[in-house]
Amino acid sequence: MNKPVWIKHATLATLKGADGPRTKEAMNDLGLIEDGSIWLQDGIVQAIGTTADLENKFGTRTAEAEVVEADGRLVTPGLVDPHTHVAYGGSREGEFEKRLQGVSYMDIMNAGGGIHATMRMTREATEDELIRQTRRRLDAFLKHGVTTVEGKSGYGMELETELKQLRVMKRLQEEHPIDLVPTFMGAHAVPAEYKGREDEYVDYLIDEMLPAAAELAEFNDVFCEKNVFTPEQSERILEAGKQYGLTPKIHADEIVPYGGAELAAKVGAISAEHLLKASDEGIEAMAEAGTIACLLPATALFLREEAAKGRDMIDAGVAVAISTDCNPGSSPTVSMPLVMNLACILMRMTPAEALTAATYNAACAISRQDRAGSLEEGKQADVVMWDVSSYQELQYLFGVNHVKTVWKNGKRVAG
Ligand code: NIG
Ligand code: FE
Repeated sequence: MNKPVWIKHATLATLKGADGPRTKEAMNDLGLIEDGSIWLQDGIVQAIGTTADLENKFGTRTAEAEVVEADGRLVTPGLVDPHTHVAYGGSREGEFEKRLQGVSYMDIMNAGGGIHATMRMTREATEDELIRQTRRRLDAFLKHGVTTVEGKSGYGMELETELKQLRVMKRLQEEHPIDLVPTFMGAHAVPAEYKGREDEYVDYLIDEMLPAAAELAEFNDVFCEKNVFTPEQSERILEAGKQYGLTPKIHADEIVPYGGAELAAKVGAISAEHLLKASDEGIEAMAEAGTIACLLPATALFLREEAAKGRDMIDAGVAVAISTDCNPGSSPTVSMPLVMNLACILMRMTPAEALTAATYNAACAISRQDRAGSLEEGKQADVVMWDVSSYQELQYLFGVNHVKTVWKNGKRVAG
């Protein structure tokens, strides 16, 4: 059993607030406690308040706890990354160089590279090899203050490899401190063997992959994009997934406007991802339906595209979350701190909105707000202490990993 941890004299951003995805002004409310204090015990937040409050409550028990003097440093919930493709094989730095020479992301993919290249490397990798590669990435996530990560399959595009990716995530959920939330994404691309028979692939996915994947996954995601899956195919796949209890998510309007945001609202998706080219009508429909926009500014940067209109979406009443999109093609990063910086710089989100988007709203995008995303009594003791003294400073001193210490379920895992 771990000793309780007592963090004192912190600038606490608790993210405590109303239940459910936060919109508009609520995204700026971080539930701040100046000179805050928090007591972590048995994996959960046992008590939280001002240092004076906790002195009253625990003053006589100092000896039994590990006391951490925060010295005014910022303390936040562990970051939540609600959109990654973390369980993949191999790497694609050669394509990065090609893109810099002017070849587009979609041209590379349509020529059999891109997602197809990672598919081949993931099919070839043994389960243990995939575990090894994915574990290293999860270790790096923890060092960047991330304590919960969603992960998608989608580099198999045939039953066995899709299940292999989902099993890898299940094993890592059991053995790694990070919480991993599994999403099935068999509809990531149409594999070469189905070229010209795209609807047959959709049938195969619905009839054979979905029932088996639903045993291991919680969400069902589709790359709804020109030359990938049409809105009609995407809708079929997402509606079929619902029959197996899988909640829809959609990679929507990333490369061209394609009605993905509208479809997300229509099928009741929990979130729509990317949205670089989402239409105003689509954004409105999402606000009305309560669909969370999961925005991925590091992907826009890495693809040298203009980022999504985060500012306008928040002003329109959409709940915004942000994510790394960690994947080998369009965003090979694990840095949620950088993603928060980019949310401010590229999408004109406020520093407070960026922190809400990376914690509480991110947890909502993967149905984990009952245990993660905010520091409240009874929730998981997932806590980050940063080597800065305010949340503004965290977003302003950009491109640096300011993590000092990370606790996952009350146990120190980094720093
Ligand atoms: O979210 N857009 C589709 N899927 C990923 C990229 C996957 C890859 O390039 O391997 C994304 O950007
Ligand atoms: Fe993605």
